[in-house]
Amino acid sequence: MATSAHNCCVEEVDIDRMGPEDWARVRDIYRAGIETGHATFDTSPPTRQEWDATHLPEPRLVARDRGRLVAWAALGPVSRRCAYRGVAEVSLYVDPRVAGRGVGRRILAALVSASEHHRIWTLEAWIFPENRASLRVHEVCGFRVVGVRERIGEHDGRWRDVLLLERRSPVVGT
Ligand SMILES: CC(C)(COP(=O)(O)OP(=O)(O)OC[C@H]1O[C@@H](n2cnc3c(N)ncnc32)[C@H](O)[C@@H]1OP(=O)(O)O)[C@@H](O)C(=O)NCCC(=O)NCCS
Repeated sequence: MATSAHNCCVEEVDIDRMGPEDWARVRDIYRAGIETGHATFDTSPPTRQEWDATHLPEPRLVARDRGRLVAWAALGPVSRRCAYRGVAEVSLYVDPRVAGRGVGRRILAALVSASEHHRIWTLEAWIFPENRASLRVHEVCGFRVVGVRERIGEHDGRWRDVLLLERRSPVVGT
C-alpha cells in the first residue's frame, strides 16, 4: 500500500505495512518516545511478543523515508466486550530526527483511513497535556478532547493527568 504525499506541507514518506523485519526500528523509535517523558507511562519498550499481543494485527503501519523506517502507528483493543469490538486505542511514534515535518500527521491520517477499512468505528488516544505536538496531530486528524483523567497514573514519581481524545468514524457503524 505504498503511497507518497504530494501536499506541500506534508513530508514525502511512503506509508507501508509493518513487517517482522521492522521490529528493531519500531522498538528504537518507541524507546526514543519514552525518553521524551511525555509519550507514555511505560518506562521501557515491551518485548516483541508483548507488543504483538497488545496490538491488533491490522492495521500496523510504518512510514519510510527513502527506505528508512521513521515512524510507526498501530492500534490496541480497548475491551474484550463485544459491544466495543470496533473501538481501539492509537499508538503513534515518530523518530525524533524527523519530528515536526508532518510525518506524524501523515501516518495518523493513514491509520485512521486503514482503521475504517478494518471496520473500526471509534479511535481513542490518551495524551499527556504537555504533549502539544501529539494533541495537534490528533486534532488535525479529527479527534476531539473528551475529557481529562486527573492524576490517573504515577510517572517518574509524579501523579499525572491524561487527556482522553476520540474520533468517531462518520462511515463505519452508522
Ligand atoms: C507527537 C508526535 C507523534 C508528532 O509527530 P510529528 O511528526 O512531529 O508531527 P507533525 O510534524 O505531523 O505535526 C506536529 C504539529 O504539532 C505542532 N506542534 C509541535 N510542537 C508544538 C507545541 N509545543 N505546541 C503546539 N503545537 C506544537 C506543530 O506545529 C504541528 O502542527 P501544524 O502542522 O499545524 O503546524 C511525535 O513528536 C512523537 O512521536 N513524539 C514522541 C512519541 C509520542 O509522544 N507519541 C504520541 C503519544 S500520545
